Amino acid sequence: MEESGGGERIRSRFVAGQTLGEAIAACRELRAAGILATLDHLGENVTTEADADRSLGAALTALGELDREGIAATISVKLTQFGMDLDAGLFRNRAEALAGTAAASDRRVEIDMESSRYTAATLEVAGRLHGMFGNTRAVIQAYLKRSAGDIDRLNSLGIPVRLCKGAYLEGPEVAFAAKTDVDASYRRLMGELFRRGSSPAIATHDEAIIDEAIALASAKGLRPEDFEFQMLYGVRRELQQRLVSRGYQVRVYVPYGEAWYPYFMRRLAERPANVWFAIRQITGE
Ligand code: FDA
Repeated sequence: MEESGGGERIRSRFVAGQTLGEAIAACRELRAAGILATLDHLGENVTTEADADRSLGAALTALGELDREGIAATISVKLTQFGMDLDAGLFRNRAEALAGTAAASDRRVEIDMESSRYTAATLEVAGRLHGMFGNTRAVIQAYLKRSAGDIDRLNSLGIPVRLCKGAYLEGPEVAFAAKTDVDASYRRLMGELFRRGSSPAIATHDEAIIDEAIALASAKGLRPEDFEFQMLYGVRRELQQRLVSRGYQVRVYVPYGEAWYPYFMRRLAERPANVWFAIRQITGE
């Protein structure tokens, strides 16, 4: 896809690049700063099996490149990128192929969580892959009302969880609408993860919650290597660095590829100031 200079500047605020090479360069830079990565080849809701196969191909190529470079990154993937919307159910086989290959080089696969209509099936796949390979991390969204039950089940099964607030537009029947309710839910679920979870990943840029996570971990006698913070590429870099300098593990989600638009729009929606940033880049002001 061709891009204008403005488009390039906007995208590069949140996306590491359009090619795997650029994403690997971003992982190298993060590594030099003491930060871990999870690599995400952008794409979602593919409409053909051929596109789903291409997505799997891209993820497998990324694994190979990480191995060659000796970069200790995980891989993040969305199951709709592997064909979850298509009838044949082949997304399960593709997820299995990715997790199996990742397991061979001792890497974790993080199964991103999409909108609530996919939650049950996504968690089912994450559970099955964990049973087969033991290298899966599931994602729980604090805005969903069902998440307390889900985290309970994942904790009982010893499945590691990335806890985030949730980035999709959801109705009040399934999700908390008020930010205060989402934050309260996040805190409750985080408490459960630190009590009974396995290798919790606290995925947020919310400094108050991060401070509480540090206090909880220290009250439980956890060491920095027992859990990790996760943040998005391009967001709160100084906070990422501050946590690393205090000895905590930080992993940054590194998205790359040509299908960056939906991901980018979710980042804009999260924070009104980002919309002004985008307008300034387009108008050159
Ligand atoms: P909150 O929105 O309260 O923001 C706290 C502060 O962080 C803000 O005040 C601001 O300083 C900063 N900030 C947050 N978002 C920003 C942005 N876009 N630009 C600039 N600054 C920003 N969601 C999902 O539904 N499924 C998933 O699989 C994932 N995966 C995932 C992985 C990782 C590593 C992270 C960090 C996040 C996700 N998310 C996600 C996204 C998540 O659900 C949520 O939408 C964002 O992280 C924003 O929420 P915060 O927790 O940062 O808090």
